Amino acid sequence: MRLKVVGSAAGGGFPQWNCNFHLSRNARKGVDNIRPRTQSSLAASADEAQWVLFNASPDIREQIAATPELQPAETAPPRSTPISAVVLTNADVDHIAGLLSLRERQRFVIYATARVLAVLEQNAIFNVLDPALVERRELALHAVTPILNWENRPTGISVETFVVPGKIALFLEDQTRAEQGFGTEEGDTIGLKIMSDYTASSVYYIPGCARIDDALKKRLDRASCLLFDGTVYTDDEMLTSGVGAKTGQRMGHLHMSGPEGSMQALADLAIGRRIYVHINNTNPILDDRSPEAETVRKNGWEIGYDGMEIRL
Ligand code: MLT
Ligand code: MN
Repeated sequence: MRLKVVGSAAGGGFPQWNCNFHLSRNARKGVDNIRPRTQSSLAASADEAQWVLFNASPDIREQIAATPELQPAETAPPRSTPISAVVLTNADVDHIAGLLSLRERQRFVIYATARVLAVLEQNAIFNVLDPALVERRELALHAVTPILNWENRPTGISVETFVVPGKIALFLEDQTRAEQGFGTEEGDTIGLKIMSDYTASSVYYIPGCARIDDALKKRLDRASCLLFDGTVYTDDEMLTSGVGAKTGQRMGHLHMSGPEGSMQALADLAIGRRIYVHINNTNPILDDRSPEAETVRKNGWEIGYDGMEIRL
């Protein structure tokens, strides 16, 4: 199986259009230890021909332009794509807005939980993807689903869904239900085990996760590869950076550092490769030379970047 980190930044991307924090400023200047990154997306292929996209980011046009594997093959018909399916892990803007750029009467399939499909259903703008051409298929929770193309042929990729602690999409938060997770329900945020049907290889993809509990630890132990929520390094970094008032927890993201953080929580597990993705523009690890980036690497983590390729 081949994987490509198509976009390694969190919502807003890096640099973010209105961000003047030093990281975005230096990324804009082209400082060489600070690489720009597009918004959260991953691609997987089991056969080098069909690709499954995991999340469709607002940067998808630019991402496809930067990823030859996702472009029409030279010998393909006048309208064509190697993207057979798009699988969504939640309904956040950074994960669904790219669907709008995949119009043009191209056939492919969308897979998502009932909760996420309901968001597409309720927002008529997604009908630019004519449901007669772009079928929407439900991903059952706690189940393995083979990802099939529009002709119902296997892509060679299957996914196992599991629920992770998270949050409903920001634009759907119910402020009257703050105590109940702003209306968050099961299926709003999932993690995925992405598997090749042809080899024994698999990878865990969890771009959003608010907490690591024992069940998740048990699941991840002995994984060969993990791509995990790298939104913030410290829970309060949006505040200390002066860019916002929300903590990582309030946004549904577990921070990396400290006794409660993801580095420590997963430290004792046997995991072949551990890679942070969905990195927010306030996260100091975006600077390769920062002490925080050094700490992350010392703890055995890789820092995801656009175009990063993983072969399993
Ligand atoms: C998140 O990951 O918390 C969301 O993408 C935030 C957003 O909607 O911008
Ligand atoms: Mn996000």
